[in-house]
Amino acid sequence: MSQRNLEALDVGAIREAFPILQREFNGEQLVYLDNAATTQTPDPVIDAMSDYYREYNANVHRGIHHLSQEASIAYEEAHDRVAEFIGASGGREEIVFTKNTTEAENLVAYAWGLNELGPGDEIVLTEMEHHASLVTWQQIGKRTGAEVKYIRIDDDGRLDMDHAADLITDDTAMVSAVHVSNTLGTINPVSDLVDIAHDHDALAFIDGAQAVPNRPVDVEAIDADFYAFSGHKMAGPTGIGALYGKKAVLEAMQPYLYGGDMITKVTYEESTWNDLPWKFEAGTPQIAEAVGLVAAIDYLEDIGMDRIEAHEQELARYAYEQLDAEPDVEIYGPEPGPDRGGLVGFNLEGVHAHDLASIMNDHAVAIRAGDHCTQPLHDKLGVAASARASFYVYNTTAEIDELAAAIDNARQLFA
Ligand code: ALA
Repeated sequence: MSQRNLEALDVGAIREAFPILQREFNGEQLVYLDNAATTQTPDPVIDAMSDYYREYNANVHRGIHHLSQEASIAYEEAHDRVAEFIGASGGREEIVFTKNTTEAENLVAYAWGLNELGPGDEIVLTEMEHHASLVTWQQIGKRTGAEVKYIRIDDDGRLDMDHAADLITDDTAMVSAVHVSNTLGTINPVSDLVDIAHDHDALAFIDGAQAVPNRPVDVEAIDADFYAFSGHKMAGPTGIGALYGKKAVLEAMQPYLYGGDMITKVTYEESTWNDLPWKFEAGTPQIAEAVGLVAAIDYLEDIGMDRIEAHEQELARYAYEQLDAEPDVEIYGPEPGPDRGGLVGFNLEGVHAHDLASIMNDHAVAIRAGDHCTQPLHDKLGVAASARASFYVYNTTAEIDELAAAIDNARQLFA
């Protein structure tokens, strides 16, 4: 991991790179606090994608003309850049581009799960899983006869690791867990979970959608067999995500989607599969999006992932303390500290989260309200919905003050 370099970010300069942050609604400047859903896009990413379409737009792996060669090189090298960013020493062979984290989870569930799981096997998830993982493995369990079990969370919103150690046994075939909860903000001890899985010869899939955007992630240090994340949550474009898989594991897997580019030889009777990672990338892929993702990685690394992590932790702590001071606000997840990420989920007593978000919207403060694709977790928390403020590299404590003022306004309206 790089040397920690934690001097404060020049947020003013950073904000200039994000044109959308200048938008105003009803005369009030946008306060964008919905970053766990999607982050905004800086000029270098917009420019890189615009350059692609202006200068070298072509299909990849199919043409011998200049444009196709340039596009193919950019697309292939994007895999190398992603591998480098998350510490995958196997390079491009270990990086499959997908539409998003959800598709990565489905890829593994279909390509590995449907072939490898059966009655007697167990899939272990956590109670804080996003639907991307929960629904996918639940349905694969139904189709294969494998049983799905859930690691409990404690009252503070942390994983009960004693329960994890009991639940993961030699019958466990797959452990799939979120790295950072999109609802509680909990940063899970994923390398410990992976170790327990491996002690029982199970594979481990880590959903890094809320981790890769805002902290240094080293997939080999975690030792995950699979690790997935999405471009649009890390200053990159929508429509692209990445699945990391250990080379030997990916090699042993069947393809997920069939079609062009994922084959080497096709006859009317048989087909053989292309090398990694192309075996898993059927059809025309996300070429402009891959170019944009590389620009996003360059942008974030220029700032420094350590500094981004420190900035978000500071904002989350500030928000937590502001909200915690209000007796009618209930906050979910652990107190600020090393195992809490850059988001705060909460409810204001007597005000539905949707109403709260709507009042905030009147003040141009954008938050998310609902179940955040974690309905069973909300059931466990005993609420139908929650409000969530989530932070990124361009947010400030002054914006959190506006969030607090908007909560005050909602309180007065509903009193
Ligand atoms: N999973 C995304 C979120 O938590 C969409 O908002």
